[in-house]
Amino acid sequence: MIRRTDIEARLATRRFGRPLYWYDRIDSTNRELLEWAVRGAEEGTLLVADEQTAGRGRRGRQWIAPPGTGLLMSLLVRPRQAVGLLPLMTGAVLAETIEAVSGARATVKWPNDVLIGERKVAGVLVETVIQRGQQAAVIGMGINVNMQAHDFERVGMPATSLRLETGQIWEREDLLAALLPRLETAYDALQAGAWSLDAWRARAPMLGKPITVFEEEDAWYGVALDVAEDGALLVQTEEGVRAIYAADVRVRFPSSET
Ligand code: BTN
Repeated sequence: MIRRTDIEARLATRRFGRPLYWYDRIDSTNRELLEWAVRGAEEGTLLVADEQTAGRGRRGRQWIAPPGTGLLMSLLVRPRQAVGLLPLMTGAVLAETIEAVSGARATVKWPNDVLIGERKVAGVLVETVIQRGQQAAVIGMGINVNMQAHDFERVGMPATSLRLETGQIWEREDLLAALLPRLETAYDALQAGAWSLDAWRARAPMLGKPITVFEEEDAWYGVALDVAEDGALLVQTEEGVRAIYAADVRVRFPSSET
């Protein structure tokens, strides 16, 4: 079932979250909103779900969240430039918002993970579609809000939630109301050529660290140097600097890898 909410009245935004639709259950808000984009939905349209039966994660993975525990949403934008920076921008804004709301220090890991400590608390999946020569982008965001430890048993990576980190249950609507204005401001700056990657760099402890890069079947080592203006991660290897666009990376610690 789909329902309109009264959250729009609480939003300090001009476009983001207008309109906003909240689903009890859907396969994937990203998949649905990509269809709406093709049919001409306006920039700022936001779909939120209590439960996804086929939530999409990066690199073909599934995004798993028990019903009602996560803030699962997709936002439609129609960017004129800097599409490649949308994942980094969104990750930086998510980290900033999570920290502002919960007080827990949140960092980013290339390309679009948000971590508390060494555990993932949120992820971003940007998918694009061309409609009558104009590009539309669906920014999918999944935030682990009220999950308990056993909720992560099926998740194949170290993960955490705001509840686990703070010991309290959070209203997803409050998080949404804190997030959307920040996202709109950052996006407008990005479109005006005024958003700086420094916002991402300032929250990226991985920069300067040895990392393992996983690409398809291949794994190789390097040092994470920086992010480029097109969103690539620049990695120092023995052969020189490599720019990577699609991969998983892990920071290498002396005794373990996360
Ligand atoms: C990742 O880290 O792999 C990206 C996860 C993105 C998940 C969100 S949940 C809401 C939106 N709809 C989807 O199907 N996926 C994104």
